[in-house]
Amino acid sequence: MTGLKQEDLVLLWSPKKGDRYLIRLTSGASQSTHLGLLRHDELIGLSYGDPVLSNTGHDFFLLKPSIGEYMRRIRRQTQIVFPKEAGYILLHLSLFPGARVIECGSGSGSLTTLFANMVGDHGRVFSYDRRADFTALAHANCERWGVSERVEFKVRDLAEGFDETDADAVFLDVQAPEDYLRQVRRALAPGRQLGLIVPTTNQLERIIPALQAESFVNIEILELLLRRYKATAARLRPEDVMVGHTGFLVFATAVRGKVPCPENGEE
Ligand SMILES: C[S@@+](CC[C@H](N)C(=O)[O-])C[C@H]1O[C@@H](n2cnc3c(N)ncnc32)[C@H](O)[C@@H]1O
Repeated sequence: MTGLKQEDLVLLWSPKKGDRYLIRLTSGASQSTHLGLLRHDELIGLSYGDPVLSNTGHDFFLLKPSIGEYMRRIRRQTQIVFPKEAGYILLHLSLFPGARVIECGSGSGSLTTLFANMVGDHGRVFSYDRRADFTALAHANCERWGVSERVEFKVRDLAEGFDETDADAVFLDVQAPEDYLRQVRRALAPGRQLGLIVPTTNQLERIIPALQAESFVNIEILELLLRRYKATAARLRPEDVMVGHTGFLVFATAVRGKVPCPENGEE
């Protein structure tokens, strides 16, 4: 097994309270924690799973960060898609190694990183955002995870449409997705899935008729609630605090031609 090297991502995990710090090993750098300081130079050459001591003698372990952990801790300037929704999105878009997937907007690149991780070296992610500064951040975050080569970032307003056609899936995380369904239809292969996320039910009310008008069927709307448990065998119980709301997920399938009732909303 080769040792950890410069630029590797490491999750420093403390057994005391489960505190964790995501670091990228950089010679000369150090990580301060409330349990003392750890110098990167002393971690380079060790292996994932190894124990280390801070300068105040507190235990830490060097863990290999999961992509979910990475997404949770990603540098962000926008709202992001969190792992809670992201796993479900991957399944419902049926992404696979080699897939061509389009997303808008790139935002901080949380979902972009996951998509790029999933499609592999032979797949492609086409990630659009109208803001160049967010695009740069999303690119940097994909690069940090080592998958930026699989992504084509494009700075563009979605109103201008996508360059690609016959995509295997499209995902929208923008304020008014209902305004861009025609652009999605042109880019998405028939019979394939569109996914989108919105924070309010008011948006859902606008999205449903817009999807129907653009011949999307098989509309599914859902919200995911996650309850974590304290991992203490003697006092096994849920965490005290729960995240109340992140967003609503919508999935729909693109079909050819006009959709007859009741998909058009008439019972
Ligand atoms: C909530 S963020 C996306 C976060 C991203 N999914 C992530 O996980 O990091 C929404 C992004 O959509 C972009 N956006 C909103 N409307 C847009 C449009 N019409 N065309 C292109 N980008 C748009 C914004 O600039 C912003 O960066």
